[in-house]
Amino acid sequence: MGLPESNPFDRFGPTSPDRPLTKTWVARHSPEFLPGPVDKADHPTQWHFPKWLVRDDIPWLAKLKALYADPISFPASMSPEAGLLLFSLVRNIRPRTVVEVGSFLGVSTIWIAAALEEIGDDPAHSGDAKARPGALVSIDDFAPVKETEWRRGSIRRDRKAIVQENIEDAGLSHRVHLEQGTSWEVLSRICQSLLDTGGVQLALLDGDHGAKGLRQDLIELEPALEIGGYVVVHDTIPERCGGHVGGRHLLEHINDFAAGLYESVEVCLSPVNYGLGLFRRMG
Ligand SMILES: C[S@@+](CC[C@H](N)C(=O)[O-])C[C@H]1O[C@@H](n2cnc3c(N)ncnc32)[C@H](O)[C@@H]1O
Repeated sequence: MGLPESNPFDRFGPTSPDRPLTKTWVARHSPEFLPGPVDKADHPTQWHFPKWLVRDDIPWLAKLKALYADPISFPASMSPEAGLLLFSLVRNIRPRTVVEVGSFLGVSTIWIAAALEEIGDDPAHSGDAKARPGALVSIDDFAPVKETEWRRGSIRRDRKAIVQENIEDAGLSHRVHLEQGTSWEVLSRICQSLLDTGGVQLALLDGDHGAKGLRQDLIELEPALEIGGYVVVHDTIPERCGGHVGGRHLLEHINDFAAGLYESVEVCLSPVNYGLGLFRRMG
């Protein structure tokens, strides 16, 4: 059965005579696809909070500045550049409920919650944002943090209490609910309550970085993820992010194992190109 005559996409159909017959891929390893430092010597060793964002009168910006100045935030907290991207996604998508896997110190948590807060405060937006304030559920195992080759320092204190304190200092605790546990177990447990409050429109998966764990996170999140909803996955370039393969696995195989149907794109990050996957549930 052919497409109806009125279909506006007819002219882009698979038999279009205008379509070039010789299309070629540019290799993924080419510099166009993988910009950013390759040599260890060129790799930054701390994050730099942009000067133009220094506003000590705004609690969440003051807190982010302090967190980025703490050596423990490098490299696991996402860079300010990636944080700004996340902030912008939230402001534009205007989700009612966001789920985050991987709070760590609360840096990405603050970027997301601040964007939800800004939506609520912005008079340019209709009143519904205030009537249904955006909420963030942030999940972490809050396990002790060890020193590594790239991380200077460790954390033995109760990390959940530290994150709670950071979010309070940022003035955002009314936006964030912390859940402690293994992410896929927590997701499975809270799935129904996420559905009962209108489902999830945006999720950040930045906890377990293995293929199996990340896959499990997506599978448990999916029943609550709206059609049209977005999933952001940090660290999709294994050769740049310490060999973690989960993000890449999702980019290449999500439609093989997920219940839903997704379109996706990989976004290069700066100053270090750990890569970010942006998925949208299409069906
Ligand atoms: C890369 S850090 C998250 C960074 C954070 N998103 C940010 O940008 O500020 C990963 C965090 O996820 C936690 N984590 C790893 N695997 C997990 C799992 N399966 N369930 C819950 N938390 C997990 C780790 O303990 C760590 O705190």
